[in-house]
Amino acid sequence: MSWTKEERYRSINDATEKELLLLEENVSKSNWRQTYHIQPKYGLLNDPNGFCFYNNQYHLFYQWFPFGAVHGLKHWYHLTSPNLIDWNDEGVGLLPTLEHESHGIFSGTGIVKEEDLYLFYTGNHRDENWDRHSSQCLAILSKEGRIEKVAEPIISGPPDNYTHEFRDPKVVKKNDKYYLLVGAQKKESFTGCLLLYTSTNLVEWEFKQEVKTNHESFGFMWECPDIFELEGKDILLLSPQGIPRQESSFQNIYHSGVFVGKFNEQEAFFDTQEFQELDKGFDFYAPQTTMTPDGRQVLIGWMGLPDTVYPSDKESWANCLTIPRELSLVAGKVRQMPIRELQEKRHAKQQISLEVSNDRLRIPAMFSDPGEYLVTIELIEAKRAGIAFRVGDEEETICFIDQQENYFCLDRTKAGEEVAIDYGTTRKIKYTQTAIEFTVFLDHSSIELFINKGETTMTSRIFPKKESCFIDLFAEKGSASIAVTQWIYQ
Ligand code: FRU
Repeated sequence: MSWTKEERYRSINDATEKELLLLEENVSKSNWRQTYHIQPKYGLLNDPNGFCFYNNQYHLFYQWFPFGAVHGLKHWYHLTSPNLIDWNDEGVGLLPTLEHESHGIFSGTGIVKEEDLYLFYTGNHRDENWDRHSSQCLAILSKEGRIEKVAEPIISGPPDNYTHEFRDPKVVKKNDKYYLLVGAQKKESFTGCLLLYTSTNLVEWEFKQEVKTNHESFGFMWECPDIFELEGKDILLLSPQGIPRQESSFQNIYHSGVFVGKFNEQEAFFDTQEFQELDKGFDFYAPQTTMTPDGRQVLIGWMGLPDTVYPSDKESWANCLTIPRELSLVAGKVRQMPIRELQEKRHAKQQISLEVSNDRLRIPAMFSDPGEYLVTIELIEAKRAGIAFRVGDEEETICFIDQQENYFCLDRTKAGEEVAIDYGTTRKIKYTQTAIEFTVFLDHSSIELFINKGETTMTSRIFPKKESCFIDLFAEKGSASIAVTQWIYQ
């Protein structure tokens, strides 16, 4: 279906009840609906927004276009949770109603001030020539649950030397001062960068300068910045667009990653080393973090990518969020582990341990059900061994180690309906050991791998047939010992 401008820029308020019921009914028939991941009831979800603990619960919003799987008029959809795993549907949080947000309420973040949650977002407006005008805006959520917008943008547009690719504010407090980081693009070189603003009251903002790092700016746009601390280091998280593909990293259309170092906000300088890609799978973008009351930095990402067609598009819905992940810093590298609260979802447990020799074996009575899997593979003398999920006629999603060429691989070549195959159907990481342990979070249309205690994650959507439900273990050119513990989620 091709969408006209009028169809793309309708708000949920323009919908009839009948239209929405029909959408919901159609979408609910999909075999790819997730069971424990946040997904839109219909339409398209993208970035997580405004992730925060406020008034005794977590608040999380996401970018949402209601009417189908296109990047149309973006709303913020609102969820709350006592524990990061059970989410209450709070409906639309921010609806585009003002002139400066006429073409979408774009991404942003939240910060608690006294009794309120301040939500910062980008107002996206297109003029009659379809030129973009971006401003940074504020809405305030009160304890009573009302969200009120400040009528005028708090930052009306980018400074002179930057284009209107200017979005996704992140606000932090340091020594009684507030700092706002926002993604931007330089007019001179059309490269991505971040701009820094300061404020003492969250309402009046002053432009300080462009953030410099020890790197030249790279890519054509830096989206969705976040900044926080781990183990005494500052971590600058961002989603740059336009990094060229490298041999075994930056394989997707766009990427998310971190700079680890020290941020001097007085000089707007981030002293750092290389940009670390945060995830090695196929579908991961625009993550953001918040700190839990007990001091854990938790990340949630969009399990999807911009400018990408997904098989569920034809069912009028697209995308979901990742499971929440606790971050840590080990030897200068950011690690991600599933939050411990997820264990409350564990319901039925099964375990199997097999030695497989030049063979492929189906695990009896264990199916690829949504839940968690702890997998260990030990090569005895096999050259390649692994596990295949969602196995059926001609379909499988495989995770294996290859000892001849020293890599670990997630292979979705035959995972089901195709996604972004121009960007390849395998993702590999260098791996030289003969044993590996990883946790797999499987849902009806996604797989998230946490390898070696979160050193590497691989996050991907898959679109298999419903009947592809088996699990196989295999070893080639020798034998391997493989153990699987499965917890089905409630
Ligand atoms: C990232 C992004 C953001 C923007 C939002 C619009 O996916 O492009 O930069 O605010 O999506 O939906």
